[in-house]
Amino acid sequence: MEETRVKRRIVLVPVPAQGHVTPMMQLGKALQSIGFSITVVQTQYNRFLLKLNQTCGESFKHCLGQLLKEQDNNDDIACVIYDEYMYFSQAATKEFQLSSIVFSTTSATAFVCRSVLAKVNAEVFLIDIKDPELQDKVFPGLHPLRYKDLPTSAFGPLESLLKLYSEVVNTRTASAVIVNSVSCLESSSLTWLQRELQVPVYPIGPLHIAASAPSSLLEEDRSCIEWLNKLKPSSVVYISLGSLALMETKDMLEMAWGLSNSNQPFLWVIRPGSIPASEWTESLPEEFTKLVSEKGYIVKWAPQMEVLKHPAVGGFWSHCGWNSTLESIGEGIPMICRPFTGDQKVNARYLESVWRIGFQLEGELEKGTVERAVKRLFVDEEGAEMRKRAIGLKEKLEASVRSGGSSFRSLDDFVNSLKMKNEGS
Ligand code: UDX
Repeated sequence: MEETRVKRRIVLVPVPAQGHVTPMMQLGKALQSIGFSITVVQTQYNRFLLKLNQTCGESFKHCLGQLLKEQDNNDDIACVIYDEYMYFSQAATKEFQLSSIVFSTTSATAFVCRSVLAKVNAEVFLIDIKDPELQDKVFPGLHPLRYKDLPTSAFGPLESLLKLYSEVVNTRTASAVIVNSVSCLESSSLTWLQRELQVPVYPIGPLHIAASAPSSLLEEDRSCIEWLNKLKPSSVVYISLGSLALMETKDMLEMAWGLSNSNQPFLWVIRPGSIPASEWTESLPEEFTKLVSEKGYIVKWAPQMEVLKHPAVGGFWSHCGWNSTLESIGEGIPMICRPFTGDQKVNARYLESVWRIGFQLEGELEKGTVERAVKRLFVDEEGAEMRKRAIGLKEKLEASVRSGGSSFRSLDDFVNSLKMKNEGS
């Protein structure tokens, strides 16, 4: 890729949450490595995104104004790239006549879902989505997603979510959309976006392969790598539910029983605060500690990418956040899918029925089903087939970010479009 002739600044506006900060930092790293200088705008952590968008506009305008005052001729702002959920950024960039770009940190298919849901008849949808008879039916226009796979949220009322989606998918005056995805995984959803959005769409992922950047908001416990070092290749179940998902005590216990009965060693990330009304694991009964002590290892937060790369890891029990999904496919690791909220359900459906490198564990968690799921992945022929397909996809992902690959070219096209804009301005 050609070096940019004039060093230019790019301002990044991430959502202040792990699953969004990580890909944004990777994007920053990728752009920095080809000659841009990067400024990251930080906001206070706030989960309620509608409110955050109402409150941040003014201070962002002030911050951008300051940056523009400080700039010199060699270091002017080429564009502002904001997380799609930080749409307040638009008003200020427009006012300062800066170019703005939307960055979507979720899958292209989740973006398509948000666009479709933003246009549904809310009254009808609010009834349909609760109808038990519709749950297993395919949602019109979103095959193979069923009603139950749609990105509804466990955290707030559906009405607010639909409102949020209509804001998020509105690209306003943005001149392009960057997606952390790749055409070999989501070709039809990317084509849909390219057709429906009025601006170019650049699928440049998976960014974690192209540009790794330290971005963990929690301290990583590296002792688990030493623990993994002692285990046989492809023998360990890695369990992590990402940065937002919660888990009830009774489910934790059923899981511990099932894992222990499966006889497979397991590395389990139990994030502080992920068990309601408990700081960490203190609310779990003695029985839990006994069950995990023999074959398991627990950490509060793991160096996930390093764990997935480790030869001892053979399967990932995951909430199917988009980053975890890409990271797992990127290492050829098949998955047991237990989505919790939002786009995780979309990813789980794709893992199971499109890429066929995982399966969903639905309904109540029960020790027998947990044990069977682990055996299905580690012992059965079906699991071996999933592993083969996952390795095939890993190779495709690696090829896509190498010189000449689809994501590599897409990043190149994006950078060239910026240069053209700069020359024109
Ligand atoms: C949520 C959504 O589920 C996701 O789809 C959306 O794109 C962002 O918001 P989150 O719950 O954080 O994300 O999951 P995920 O997207 O998988 O991101 C979690 C990140 O934390 C991953 O990059 C993972 O490597 C990292 N992680 C997780 C660790 O570094 N250590 C851990 O122990 C667990």
